Amino acid sequence: MVEIRQLVKKYRERTVLDLPELTFEDGEIAALAGANGSGKTTLLRILAGVLSADGGEIRAPSQILYCPQNAYAFRGDLVENILLGVKEPPARALRLLEKMELAALAKKKASSLSGGELQRLALCRALIRPCRLLLLDEPTSACDARGTALAAQAIKEYQKEQGCTVIFSTHAPAFALTASRLLVLEDGRLADDGPPETVLNEPKTDWARSFSLLG
Ligand SMILES: Nc1ncnc2c1ncn2[C@@H]1O[C@H](COP(=O)(O)OP(=O)(O)OP(=O)(O)O)[C@@H](O)[C@H]1O
Ligand SMILES: [Mg+2]
Repeated sequence: MVEIRQLVKKYRERTVLDLPELTFEDGEIAALAGANGSGKTTLLRILAGVLSADGGEIRAPSQILYCPQNAYAFRGDLVENILLGVKEPPARALRLLEKMELAALAKKKASSLSGGELQRLALCRALIRPCRLLLLDEPTSACDARGTALAAQAIKEYQKEQGCTVIFSTHAPAFALTASRLLVLEDGRLADDGPPETVLNEPKTDWARSFSLLG
């Protein structure tokens, strides 16, 4: 469970995050949406503990996994990338790679992957580790529809196994619809929060309304 009270983040005089009260329950998969600059990364970084807030309180589990917005590759092949720092058998890494349809690339250098492949590898690297709170910043922004669906499925399975809370940010409505809850930020404030279908089909925010522009 994550509890946020009176959370404020400012850059100089500009408030980029202002969340009076927000709670995420255990077992929840929450999607975080909103326009560029609305504060998604700022919120995830503060929850992950890599950025400090200017005020407020956060109660969160201590076992947190955080995947930043830019996926990265370590030296070595895909299996080595997944197993770095964990004592798990290579077969487990391979199973994750199979799930993400990357098994054929298992022995390739991670630095040679495409953007969408690298994001799926980053997800494998996270999902082999246990946690109580999984934070994913636009984990499928470079993925095609199939890659996004595979990622969504893997996240759901992981959440069930771990019983953890998951919060991911995304711009993609199809990915947001795989969550159990959709929150929309506007200028650092919570502008909508509810079942993904409702947030998208009864739009209260510019972010949700913008999809009707696409026809
Ligand atoms: N180090 C910084 N110094 C000044 N302003 C910053 C800094 N980091 C972020 N900001 C500002 O804070 C606001 C929120 O940024 P954030 O990265 O959280 O947005 P976001 O919702 O993740 O956007 P995107 O969809 O583009 O990833 C933006 O207006 C950004 O310019
Ligand atoms: Mg961001």
